[in-house]
Amino acid sequence: MADQYAQSGEDIRLSEDIQATAHDIPALRWEEPAEGPVLVLLDQTRLPAEEVELVCTDPQALVQAIRSLAVRGAPLLGIAGAYGVALAAARGFDVEEAADALADARPTAVNLAYGVRRAQQAYRSAFGNGAGGAQSGQERAAAAALAAARALHQEDAEGSSRMAAHGLQLLDELLTGGTHRILTHCNTGALVSGGEGTAFAVALAAHRVGRLNRLWVDETRPLLQGARLTAYEAARHGMSYTLLTDSAAGSLFAAGEVDAVLIGADRIAADGSVANKVGSYPLAVLARYHHVPFIVVAPLTTVDLETPDGGSIEVEQRPGHEVTEVTAPQAPLAGVEAGGGIPVAPLGTQAYNPAFDVTPPELVTAIVTEWGVVAPVTAEALSELCDRSRQT
Ligand code: MRU
Repeated sequence: MADQYAQSGEDIRLSEDIQATAHDIPALRWEEPAEGPVLVLLDQTRLPAEEVELVCTDPQALVQAIRSLAVRGAPLLGIAGAYGVALAAARGFDVEEAADALADARPTAVNLAYGVRRAQQAYRSAFGNGAGGAQSGQERAAAAALAAARALHQEDAEGSSRMAAHGLQLLDELLTGGTHRILTHCNTGALVSGGEGTAFAVALAAHRVGRLNRLWVDETRPLLQGARLTAYEAARHGMSYTLLTDSAAGSLFAAGEVDAVLIGADRIAADGSVANKVGSYPLAVLARYHHVPFIVVAPLTTVDLETPDGGSIEVEQRPGHEVTEVTAPQAPLAGVEAGGGIPVAPLGTQAYNPAFDVTPPELVTAIVTEWGVVAPVTAEALSELCDRSRQT
């Protein structure tokens, strides 16, 4: 059925003036023009230079967008995956095949498979359910997949506000002094969420109540999600922020300039181990040495009780050209197969390029979820919180 996936994404350039439109452009949206439903993505590989939308008309285009990081970040991957199943159903693709391709597009963020399987399950159940009036089984099932994607999108937006509130309260409990200097890594704002994000949403909440002294933004090598995306979001919100190279974090801690580290997560194992963007674990080690709280903010869709521990988390290995070349954001980051950037290492250099690393639970001060805070981080506390969320 591979030929069903022949169509690819199409670019639409939105605006030369990113200042004018930044807050109006969601990270993704579902549209239903006369030609048929589409999933529209803000192409994050082009930010901050250009705001360009990528229109996916078929699931394979979405798989490519996921692999190239045009759409990225754990919660948004879940939402995108769910809409991808809805897209396959609405446009008559093989839904089972599309679901598998979407769920496998990237391995580490558990939200992706969660979102895909949730919409797929809704599709299957509606297909098997005879009730539906004039609608055919296919129409009913496609509508159910879309409803599941919309529900996940909405829940993520609501969860984001609740995480922000819990996170802000935790900061106030843990930190003395009126304003906070927060270090963050990668990108965890509205670009990864149905709402305002995870860790970034907490920093934004602190900013709104006048308690953010400074957001330290790690540039996040090699793909610069911090420099390109977090700085972009912080600037749009008028937050006080400063960009640093990842390797400058140590001297910042040593100078006593960091009150707390706030990061997101791609998968949290049953024992509380946290997989997040590569470079998170060194920050946890630094934070412990300097007695600074290391706080993970993530929705429960990121918690995977089926994965027992950190060693069982599959860490995505990305192509070496992302390290051996620098690619300007105004040119597409070119997907996973090819480079095309400016070489910064001798031709033929081998690169080690894991996309994530794993922080053990003993280095995590607290995990902030939409259902409350887990601290200290233990398997029992995490599992209790998950049980509580299911009972409510
Ligand atoms: O490779 P990316 O850009 O998808 O990685 C994203 C991250 O590591 C984020 O920190 C994580 O998904 C949490 S987002 C709330």
